Amino acid sequence: MCSIIGYLGLNQAAPIIVKGLKRMEYRGYDSVGVATFTNKQILVRKGVGKVIEVNKTVRLDELSGTVGIGHTRWATHGMVTDANAHPHPSSSGEVAIVHNGIITNHEELKKDLQQKGYAFKSQTDSEVIANLLQYHYDKTRNIKQSMVNTVADLRGDYAFVAVFEDGTLSAARLHEPLLIGIGKEGYFISSDVLGFVEHTDEVIYLDNREFVIISSGGIQIFDFDSNPVHHQITKVSKEFADVYKGEFAHFTLKEISEQPRTIINAGNNTKLELDLATDFIRHAKTLYITGSGTSYNAALVAKFLFSKYAKIKIEPIISSEVHFSPDIFEQQSILIALSQSGESADVLEAVNIAKKAGAKIISIVNIMTSSLAQLSSISIGLGCGPEIGVAATKSFTAQLAILYKIVDKICEGAVGLDLTKVSEAIKKSLSDDSKIQEIAKKLKNVSDIYILGRGIHYPIALESSLKLKELTYIHAEGLPGGELKHGPLALMDSNTYVIMINPDDSTYSDTLTSAREIKARGAKVIGISDKPSDVYDYWVEIPKVDESMYPLVEIIPVQLLAYYAAVEKETDPDYPRNLAKSVTVK
Ligand code: G6P
Repeated sequence: MCSIIGYLGLNQAAPIIVKGLKRMEYRGYDSVGVATFTNKQILVRKGVGKVIEVNKTVRLDELSGTVGIGHTRWATHGMVTDANAHPHPSSSGEVAIVHNGIITNHEELKKDLQQKGYAFKSQTDSEVIANLLQYHYDKTRNIKQSMVNTVADLRGDYAFVAVFEDGTLSAARLHEPLLIGIGKEGYFISSDVLGFVEHTDEVIYLDNREFVIISSGGIQIFDFDSNPVHHQITKVSKEFADVYKGEFAHFTLKEISEQPRTIINAGNNTKLELDLATDFIRHAKTLYITGSGTSYNAALVAKFLFSKYAKIKIEPIISSEVHFSPDIFEQQSILIALSQSGESADVLEAVNIAKKAGAKIISIVNIMTSSLAQLSSISIGLGCGPEIGVAATKSFTAQLAILYKIVDKICEGAVGLDLTKVSEAIKKSLSDDSKIQEIAKKLKNVSDIYILGRGIHYPIALESSLKLKELTYIHAEGLPGGELKHGPLALMDSNTYVIMINPDDSTYSDTLTSAREIKARGAKVIGISDKPSDVYDYWVEIPKVDESMYPLVEIIPVQLLAYYAAVEKETDPDYPRNLAKSVTVK
């Protein structure tokens, strides 16, 4: 999703901003731009494409000046064009802004500003912020007052940074992330700590309804009612420095390969919270679990674990659907919210709805400083380090590992949880992926893949299909094995590939029967199993583990398959088209 960054300091701003934007590329974007303040004017350069491409054509990093702002845009309002890329200057050019979020009343604001003589050049909602700031600045010639008046007029969710004609930076936040970095040679403001992690680990997290004014004289923070606010400086965890690919070709492969370690570490930094959460869950009147995308697939696995081992009923609900059934929550309900980023707008909305109804929130989240962690009664950390690849991999298995730990505590060990054994099994799968690479070559020109699983393996089939869609752009569909004969069998022919998630457990023989039905229609069958069968055209062997533990092991080969198929198709596995790592708009 859009990333914003601002810098004011002793050094040239543009190279620092371009580097910061590159660091935040993982969030997903389609265009990029930078504005700097120099010689009493604001200069803007921008364009459609990757940071590296746009920089090559318009030399973003050669803009001069020690104050600047930058942006990567993920289009919501208006096509992907140069004109719609940020920064947006005001019509007189005295102010320029970068923005993340959606201004819901932009149409009426735009009409009003146009009538007052302010011109617009883009189709974005964001440009109204530039002209609105300019309008209030024209009236007051006072930055603080212009900010207070502007945020009072804006509706929607936003984080924006503005540069003014005197070289001052100002930034405001409402339900979109924004943090300030305090460096020895300058100040930073960004949506993500990765925007400036190489310069400083000292950060101030702005709260909702706050804005900051940054000038060479220092920083001042105010709430939207203009009252001064004081914040502690927080030291961000050193692990944020671990954002290099190292020997790996892509972040996605690096993150897949980290899983033997990350499943063991999951939740270890928040052991007390895990114990407390377990106690809360035991006594919940009604229990819900929510998430988006991959996190929702983890929620579906939880449903099986809770009912089978802990004998507890938990209802998974897709975060973006909570809005349409807000009445499910009651006093003493518990909502477990799963999110890697802790910033998915749909998840935050679900949590806010549940809180309003009196429910308690337990979050399982990777970014412990995120909005979700702040909204929760208890927050358990995934502790898997930064996940840069847009398609979630290690965060999924870390979420599962924590859910396993909770269930195992509730049922006093009945799960037979042995993460060390699982870690060894994952290591084994990772150590020889040559067969998977061979199959990936076959998928290059395939247009449809189906993934079948029964019981607890059905959510893994769904997660597998999500990985294949995100990374390879091949149409992929996860199905419960038994539903094959109720429709999807009509789609099977010799151009179709079907992946069977088929470990040697109680689902095995039924899934094998489905495989035979598929094979009889000429489709190619890929079996992910610890047991060979003549029905598989390709057998991907997974190590044998305890029956309860298969989900953690069987997802690994599919993550690898999706990754290698993306490499074969020459798509970018780390930054799939049209997707964002953290979707901060509804
Ligand atoms: C986006 C990403 C998905 C991710 C989902 C939820 O849609 O592209 O890969 O699973 O957000 O993200 P979260 O950070 O809330 O887990």
